[in-house]
Amino acid sequence: MFICENLGVNDAGHLSFAGQDTAALAARYGTPLYLMDEARIRRNCRVYRDAMRACFGESAMTLYASKANSFRQIYRIMQEEGMGVDVVSRGEIHTAARAGYDLSRAFYHGNAKSDADIAYAMDCGVGCFVVDNEDELHAVEAEAARRGTAQRILLRVTPGIDPHTYEAVNTGMVDSKFGRAIATGEAEALVRLALSLRHVRLLGFHCHVGSQVFAEDVFERAVDVMLRFIAQMRDTLGYTASVLDLGGGYGVRYTDADPTLDIAEKLRDVARVFHAVCAELSLSEPAVALEPGRSIVADAGLTLYTAQSVKRIRGYKNYVAVDGGMTDNPRFALYKSRYTVLPAGDMNAPRNMRCDLAGCCCESGDILQQDVALPDTLRRGDLVAVCTTGAYNYAMASNYNRVPRPCVVMLRDGDSYVAVRRETVDDLTGLDA
Ligand code: LLP
Repeated sequence: MFICENLGVNDAGHLSFAGQDTAALAARYGTPLYLMDEARIRRNCRVYRDAMRACFGESAMTLYASKANSFRQIYRIMQEEGMGVDVVSRGEIHTAARAGYDLSRAFYHGNAKSDADIAYAMDCGVGCFVVDNEDELHAVEAEAARRGTAQRILLRVTPGIDPHTYEAVNTGMVDSKFGRAIATGEAEALVRLALSLRHVRLLGFHCHVGSQVFAEDVFERAVDVMLRFIAQMRDTLGYTASVLDLGGGYGVRYTDADPTLDIAEKLRDVARVFHAVCAELSLSEPAVALEPGRSIVADAGLTLYTAQSVKRIRGYKNYVAVDGGMTDNPRFALYKSRYTVLPAGDMNAPRNMRCDLAGCCCESGDILQQDVALPDTLRRGDLVAVCTTGAYNYAMASNYNRVPRPCVVMLRDGDSYVAVRRETVDDLTGLDA
């Protein structure tokens, strides 16, 4: 009945999440409210880690792509779960460091790292840089030389694969802004350059084909292309990569229209291709890394809102407007992303009103979801839940219209705690001169 097993309905007819009454949580913490199910985050980590080990052996690395949701408590959980992390900015590095996360296990991504970013990451002891291009490679070499060290790096390579997901998250194509393409020979040139430098230590290669990936064989094709590239570098340059990082993880179910994936089974299919191609090419198997973000945290999240108005435009459509919107979840405005919307305070009422769920921003594009079914008894003051919001919601939240960002409340063992406090209007003016 529900898109995720941590959802339910309790005796009061309220939506429950991680076994807790969402109406009671809304009353306690206010709305809009991000809820995170800690046990689900940990479970998702274990699913990936166990499957990666089973498929690729002890050298397999599973990193949480922390761009999906970054705050201190998340990095503490990742540390406890034995996960590496993928970081993409000074802010994420700082947040991880302030959480006590061991950054020697972090991979540092990004296509436009400044000298200051590079120096900060080295100060913090970030284990591995994923170098995007020649300019960055020279900058990393220079900073490592200044320190008399050799920085461990991967090179980001573009395999030329279309993951058939939405355009904003396609990254594996030849004309991507990320990495250097195999097809044009520019990837090989980047490898030659890296091998000629004394203060970088090339561990291997990284590719990321896209996000919200469901298409049948995307990772299999990426593995095939990347292993052939590794073999080509061995044969032409005498260099054998010891790490192959395949980038982000699988897609998640936002609505009933999305398929259910068995991640362990999917990874077994990838591993079959990996072992077969390594054998075919007589390649010593590189350590395989994967960097899931969305599928670690998405279904561990839920957002609660309070309806502020119910508007019927006779002959046209209905709107339910809530106290949050594109400021806490810009994904429909940006990507037309689908979500499941539920009447959290009255789950047993018939859902007989088609409506758009509108946000509170002074912009008509501020829509959280189009054409959803809610009860026609819904009134101002009633709760509305948007499910599966644990990834790329808080992480992409803004203060547009000077709307303060919601708090993040973690649910654990029947209890709850504030992981990120609610922003106040004074926080907003706090930066102003
Ligand atoms: N590794 C790299 C290098 C990435 O660029 C990404 C995502 C990931 C890993 C994690 O991918 P995932 O497992 O989450 O699919 N804001 C967009 C998603 C952008 C993804 C960017 N890179 C959204 O809300 O759909």
